[in-house]
Amino acid sequence: MSILTVEDNKIWVIRTHRADYAIHVDSNGALQHFYWGEQLNTLDEFFEASDQHVWIWESEEGISREEIMPWGKLNFAEPGLKVEFQDCSRDVVLRFDSSVIEDNVLKIVLRDVIKQLQVTVHYRAYDEFDVIERWVEIANIGQESVVLEQVMSAVWHMPVYPSYRLTYLAGHWGAETQLRRELLLEGKKVIEARRGITGHNHNPFFMIDFGETTEENGSVYYGALAFSGHWKVVAERTPYQFLQIAVGINDFDFRWLLKAGETFVSPVSVGGYTARGYGDASRKLHGYQQKHVLRNGDQLRKVLYNSWEATYFDVNEENQRILAQKAASLGAERFVVDDGWFGARADDTAGLGDWYVNKTKFPNGLGSLIDYVKSLGMDFGIWVEPEMVNPNSDLYRNHPDWVYHFPNRHRTEGRNQLVLNLAREDVQAYVYHAVDELLSTYDISFIKWDMNRYFSEPGWPETEMGRDREVWVRHVHALYDIWERLQTKHTQVQFESCAGGGGRVDMGIMRYADQFWTSDNTDALDRLRIQWGHSHAYNSKSMVCWVTENVNFMNGRQIPLQFRFHTAMMGTLGIGMNLNHMTEQEMKEAAAYIAQYKAIRPIVQEGLCYRLSPPEQSDVTAVEYVSQDGQEVVLFTFRHAQHYGHPALPVRLRGLDPSSRYCNSETGEIRSGQGWMSRGILLRLKGDYDSALIRLTLVGD
Ligand code: DGJ
Repeated sequence: MSILTVEDNKIWVIRTHRADYAIHVDSNGALQHFYWGEQLNTLDEFFEASDQHVWIWESEEGISREEIMPWGKLNFAEPGLKVEFQDCSRDVVLRFDSSVIEDNVLKIVLRDVIKQLQVTVHYRAYDEFDVIERWVEIANIGQESVVLEQVMSAVWHMPVYPSYRLTYLAGHWGAETQLRRELLLEGKKVIEARRGITGHNHNPFFMIDFGETTEENGSVYYGALAFSGHWKVVAERTPYQFLQIAVGINDFDFRWLLKAGETFVSPVSVGGYTARGYGDASRKLHGYQQKHVLRNGDQLRKVLYNSWEATYFDVNEENQRILAQKAASLGAERFVVDDGWFGARADDTAGLGDWYVNKTKFPNGLGSLIDYVKSLGMDFGIWVEPEMVNPNSDLYRNHPDWVYHFPNRHRTEGRNQLVLNLAREDVQAYVYHAVDELLSTYDISFIKWDMNRYFSEPGWPETEMGRDREVWVRHVHALYDIWERLQTKHTQVQFESCAGGGGRVDMGIMRYADQFWTSDNTDALDRLRIQWGHSHAYNSKSMVCWVTENVNFMNGRQIPLQFRFHTAMMGTLGIGMNLNHMTEQEMKEAAAYIAQYKAIRPIVQEGLCYRLSPPEQSDVTAVEYVSQDGQEVVLFTFRHAQHYGHPALPVRLRGLDPSSRYCNSETGEIRSGQGWMSRGILLRLKGDYDSALIRLTLVGD
């Protein structure tokens, strides 16, 4: 990144490939936002301090655009920082202290005017993707404890425009990452999680535009929070023409005791800018994730088979062997045994917490199944849910105090289970050792780490006074730490983040996760929408998609195999149906799709994704992937339901070189990139649930 500083004026311009982000210290010593958007040509543009209009009755702070927005004086906007000092004072007024650029990070140190509280704002930029990471460090450099009540990772200030539109992801279990777009009027729009995990209802991601942006054109400010717990994004449109987006740990029920000498570090908030529409914003996020966030981002993901929908809790060595043999014959590269292999697990009422192999189901332990799976040429993966315990388990009988609870209050169960208090060191040790032992004993290459309920009664009665509300954050820190330690020791093991489907999908866990289980909803039609929304924030390599039964378990819908495969081939492909239900012909077809997927895998998993036709706009969904080197193109098209015999509208490609020629691999038709983009492709999709996968190859100028 390049940071241009104009020291005397205390102005910093963070310049990325196509964008500038500028901040400055004002005449009072406060760190103010100055500019974010297209690169400005000359540095002179930054010399003029941003002079605001005066609004009668509104104070200077009321229209201030501080980078931190501490709660104090007459600042009434959503605070970026709120604390309580020991003498009961609760305001913070931050003034510039010093700045430094270290390891490519711009650090600006601010201090409260009275108290010994130091706040360091961090900025790290990724040029290629016009992405900036921001986070804050709060240091108690005094002698007395301080209580943090709200710490936002970033407050992003938007330029002043007459209208603002927010894009976000909403939903619920089985309907995650539904795309939502709405105009913001005065007031606050809050998306958040207050359930202990990232959640199914909202995702910590946003895009802002000015009401006219399209998929390919117009300004978009995009951002996210890299955190897997209790979070909040507040888009606040003030009456004074401003829009600020505060992003960070949710202040609801949060409190952090910062003793003398201690430091609190916020999670990272990611922010970026493009003038080229939502599509480019997503591609930039995808590229940033692939290169800088996603674990093992440079490796292609394997085609996996998962036995959950085939055998549910009834796993045993025999039925898994049969499935493994069939999965291998299809071309699967990894075989994953899901829930049910451990403790007294016959259904969801017992066993969680007891991470030893169930000897009735697997009399030979897991070893002989693993050997068999490996002999078939696949690697072996296993499901765990280590943050959880069933009251009906040895673990809970021995350690009833290990779960979150309030003293003498009812412990509310979800899916017959309670949440282990990962803030406790003894619990952390137990969870780490349980998984470490599994990985040390068996030749396991893949962990599907699940989490199937939200927190309730999040108490920690045994902790020292004032620390109990830290669980919201300590749980997440402990989880990251456990994953990191396991991964340092078992470097070859890949991790999938799952929480009842897509309940833990975010850029925080992404540093430790190789992939996400996108949703338990595997109905291909619903999936088009879930995956469409998901693609706005996350890359396709991280998005795991299974092909499941002909009759879908959620809605009974029957969709042809081709449509189901094509839908699942748009991310990391998995197979989840009961292979014993497949005819010989279906097995043959499935094997052919898997072989085809392997051939296009680098394009889908690592290429540039162009969303051409949204599932909710017409009866056609179309998504295109262009390989990084621009040589190959894969287009997926889906006809949901044909009405009145209407032919499907042509699909116009994007992202091609207009003057190069591309050949349709199936028909042999050769046209210029401009031709494919302007005239488009005539689709021959008919009836319900028809789909096509079309490949183009560059043949030169
Ligand atoms: C929820 C997950 O999302 C499913 O894929 C499966 O692993 C079940 N849990 C197992 O209990």
